[in-house]
Amino acid sequence: MSLAPHHVYPVIWQDDHVLLIDQTRLPSEYDLVQISRCADMAIAIKTMIVRGAPAIGVAAAYGMYLGAREIETGDREVFLTQLGHVADTLRATRPTAVNLFWAIDRVMRVTRQSIGQVDYLKQVILQTAQAIQLEDLQMCEAIGDYGLAALPQTPHRLRLLTHCNAGALATAGYGTALGVVRSAWRSERLERLYADETRPRLQGARLTAWECVQEEIPITLITDSMAAHCMQQGMVDAVVVGADRITANGDVANKIGTYGLAIVAHAHDIPFFVAAPFSTVDFGLVDGSQIPIEERDSTEISHIGETSICPEGIAFYNPAFDVTPARLITAVITEQGALKPEDLIKREFGIRRGGIDRVEST
Ligand code: MRU
Repeated sequence: MSLAPHHVYPVIWQDDHVLLIDQTRLPSEYDLVQISRCADMAIAIKTMIVRGAPAIGVAAAYGMYLGAREIETGDREVFLTQLGHVADTLRATRPTAVNLFWAIDRVMRVTRQSIGQVDYLKQVILQTAQAIQLEDLQMCEAIGDYGLAALPQTPHRLRLLTHCNAGALATAGYGTALGVVRSAWRSERLERLYADETRPRLQGARLTAWECVQEEIPITLITDSMAAHCMQQGMVDAVVVGADRITANGDVANKIGTYGLAIVAHAHDIPFFVAAPFSTVDFGLVDGSQIPIEERDSTEISHIGETSICPEGIAFYNPAFDVTPARLITAVITEQGALKPEDLIKREFGIRRGGIDRVEST
């Protein structure tokens, strides 16, 4: 697959290995990490060298190939059993983003359905990973276009606010929420992006700001606690965030702080958009209470870099994600259009009773 050289691609297949942009080191250092073994891919996902729901799906798909390559048997059934163990290793890395499980399941399904010898199955796995990557790029561009159409019409250029990083770094290379921002910028509809710094791992300050600098998108960085004030001051026309998992009823798990942002947007009558590919919707879960929420190490709160910022001997609680109820979401912008959260399930299962409300710009 040939990828345009001027873009940011967090996962790159080159020769016989994967290159990952080390997202733990941005923005101070731009490092590429070479990954040749499945176990190393699992560590990279766990330690957030690669992060963001669609990007970890792509990384896990390549991890499946790396793991498949390490299996030595020529027996198809033995191979499939061992591939199941590879899948389990990758599944155990992070629990919330459904794209990880979606990509692994797709690789498993396609492999099982393919007829041929083990060497051929290994090629099928690599091709599936490449297809997942390419499709994500295309889906994100479509999300950008649909998002642009759904954003409010204002007499001035738009002032958007986002949380965390749902950009090129978090996907195959364009972004979901930041893809919408990118499309707005390229269409000259964007005045400015406000980005929450996104405590504790600072994906907004480190990654979203870095991406905006690459493309000269005007960005103002704020701390998470400033978003309500900015909305009250009339500085924000719409909020656009990504998603790690959306349930059948339209509830959305995303980076911790998203729920609070949605409540504040609602209080100020500001549209709140979630941008995500359909693969982020987990129709197997009824509502957001069923989404497993990852809890990460307390040092993410207690330390900034190497420096401790609080007294010793206290307790910590560090959930990495929260759940925003569907009623607070104006629309979910997918590659199939901007849909009301409750219409996702109708679209998936083709239920046309009463029709699906497409969300046009307000
Ligand atoms: O913990 P992270 O950095 O993987 O969390 C990322 C997010 O919450 C993103 O908003 C989400 O994955 C969507 S990325 C297009």
